[in-house]
Amino acid sequence: MESGLWNKDLLNNILRFLLLAVAVVKTVHGEGTSVGFYSSTCPSAESIVRSTVESYVSSDPTFAAGILRMHFHDCFVRGCDASVLIAGSDTERSAGPNRNLRGFEVIDDAKAKLEALCPSVVSCADILSLAARDSVVLSGGLSWQVPTGRRDGKISIGSEALTLPGPNDTVAVQKTKFSDKGLNTQDLVILAGGHTIGTAACQFFSDRIYSPNGTDPSIDPSFVSFLRTICPQDQPTKRVALDTGSQFIFDTSYFENLKRSHGILRSDQALWTDASTRPFVLKYSITGLFKVEFGKSMVKMGNIGVKTGSDGEIRTKCSAVN
Ligand code: HEM
Repeated sequence: MESGLWNKDLLNNILRFLLLAVAVVKTVHGEGTSVGFYSSTCPSAESIVRSTVESYVSSDPTFAAGILRMHFHDCFVRGCDASVLIAGSDTERSAGPNRNLRGFEVIDDAKAKLEALCPSVVSCADILSLAARDSVVLSGGLSWQVPTGRRDGKISIGSEALTLPGPNDTVAVQKTKFSDKGLNTQDLVILAGGHTIGTAACQFFSDRIYSPNGTDPSIDPSFVSFLRTICPQDQPTKRVALDTGSQFIFDTSYFENLKRSHGILRSDQALWTDASTRPFVLKYSITGLFKVEFGKSMVKMGNIGVKTGSDGEIRTKCSAVN
């Protein structure tokens, strides 16, 4: 009898421990988010973000790419906690890799509208994640459901942004940087497909077209001539479409361009030359799967290191901690 009771207590304790362990694992993996998190606390949150993004993108379609990239840069540094939005002299936002980020005003505007309607409810991290989805849809991509419930971080350190993937990273380095965030090789190739929209400054690839040792052999020579006309050597800040011919359309031509050695960044073109990533480039260039799977990889990326529950805060202004 006594040993039966002891067994029951022991079982209860084991069960409690297991539940706690599951909760910890879920938090660490960012599963504290859920689709429709604001459905009762701020029902129009998602539609306000959408209409705000719509109005900016319809007057300037380059905002779509800016916002998509901003979400990536947020998630890869301290998790998707809007740390990239905090202004200041030594913040992520002021660091080199983030200097050309665009679209802060879109997020600030959506936030101001949401604060007027549901004060201190909707996080900047969620606004950015929703806005990234809306940017893809407005560019012709397929929609996906964005789990929400992220809270905003209180820390942003400039030097941490230096760990972001860079344009000269080899595939091995890109794979390591992605796997460190729980993203596999397929996620890497799919998410790099975000370069189907937007532009890059010439400085990020000029050594590929002007090297004194000859041009990069992984670029089509006729494409080198074309890029030289857009990127004169003395104009490093001029910008060129990452997906030649289709800068505003979310489609598969980025992958088609890699296959014909028309990738812009060294890191892009390497996805085709490397044997481990080439099969994915091939697959996404010839099937419609890219658009479906992009949303799935974005949900994975959007769950990196999220803060939920009582962690972090709900900022009242996205550019500053409360
Ligand atoms: C795989 C590693 C990646 C590298 C090395 C990389 C690098 C770059 C670089 C150098 C630029 C040009 C920046 C500038 O001119 O200021 C750029 C632009 C861009 N990146 Fe990436 N990126 C990567 C992954 C991603 C991912 C995962 C996404 C989103 C899912 C993304 C979305 C974009 C977009 C949309 C632009 C255009 C931004 C604009 O037009 O303002 N990139 N990227």
